[in-house]
Amino acid sequence: MELTGNTILITGGASGIGLALAVRFLQTGNKVIVAGRGEERLKAAQKLHPKLHTMVCDVSKEQERLELVARLLKEFPEVNVLVNNAGIQQRVNLLEANEDWAHYQNEIAINVEGPIHLSMLLLPQLKKQKKGAVINVSSGLAIRPGAWVPIYSATKAAIHSFTQSLRLQLSETDVTVIEILPPAVNTDLGGAGVHQSGAPLDEFTDEVFERLRQGDLEIGYGDSEKRLHLSGKETDLGAKEAWENFKKNNSDFQ
Ligand SMILES: NC(=O)c1ccc[n+]([C@@H]2O[C@H](COP(=O)([O-])OP(=O)(O)OC[C@H]3O[C@@H](n4cnc5c(N)ncnc54)[C@H](OP(=O)(O)O)[C@@H]3O)[C@@H](O)[C@H]2O)c1
Repeated sequence: MELTGNTILITGGASGIGLALAVRFLQTGNKVIVAGRGEERLKAAQKLHPKLHTMVCDVSKEQERLELVARLLKEFPEVNVLVNNAGIQQRVNLLEANEDWAHYQNEIAINVEGPIHLSMLLLPQLKKQKKGAVINVSSGLAIRPGAWVPIYSATKAAIHSFTQSLRLQLSETDVTVIEILPPAVNTDLGGAGVHQSGAPLDEFTDEVFERLRQGDLEIGYGDSEKRLHLSGKETDLGAKEAWENFKKNNSDFQ
């Protein structure tokens, strides 16, 4: 992917992986718009990085997605890259799932409906550009589920599949379709401290950026890169081992 001269929308770009990508894109001569639910968080990111543009949008809501795209096309008619990065992760014990459906549905709306609908809304625009791109941030759990985050893992598998179809459908256009599959990375995903033992954010993002520069289309890192090359049998065994390990270390899982 050409890493200079783009106009890039990054959902969930005010923190974590989205912000780390946003900063690198700013440093390499791109215009970057970050979108997120919280105005304060967006403002805080902009204070640290004054060249960032911000737009409030809850990607789980259809109307807000429509408004985001309308505003984006009006204010940045040259936009040529969409980074679907916003996501949440919820631990769910399926045997003790007593919340209203809205609680579970929200994870699906943010992680699946958001990226699919935004991709579809922006495709006519991206297709008109000389070098359009869609970058979807899925997860190593797209390949091998984490049974303690069953809905999350399913949403990421869905995005992995959608990204493959999108790439095939766009193969005769100038739009590049890229998937980033992070392993555990030290961000606030799932709540502060949950991913503390994950890969350092800057090391992970530097490597991702280098792989983008090299033109890779499926970008894993460490364990998630390995998962891309495992057999189905090895993947199943890994999921079982990870679940047993989780249960051993989380006897209070509910
Ligand atoms: N960290 C990891 O270990 C890991 C591993 C694999 C995949 N990933 C994926 O990487 C992506 C980024 O996550 P992260 O680790 O950087 O976590 P993060 O720091 O929690 O970032 C997630 C971002 O998404 C935004 N967001 C959440 N719900 C939203 C909504 N409804 N509308 C708009 N924005 C929303 C959040 O901002 P607001 O709350 O202000 O809206 C936040 O800025 C996610 O898709 C995640 O699934 C992360």
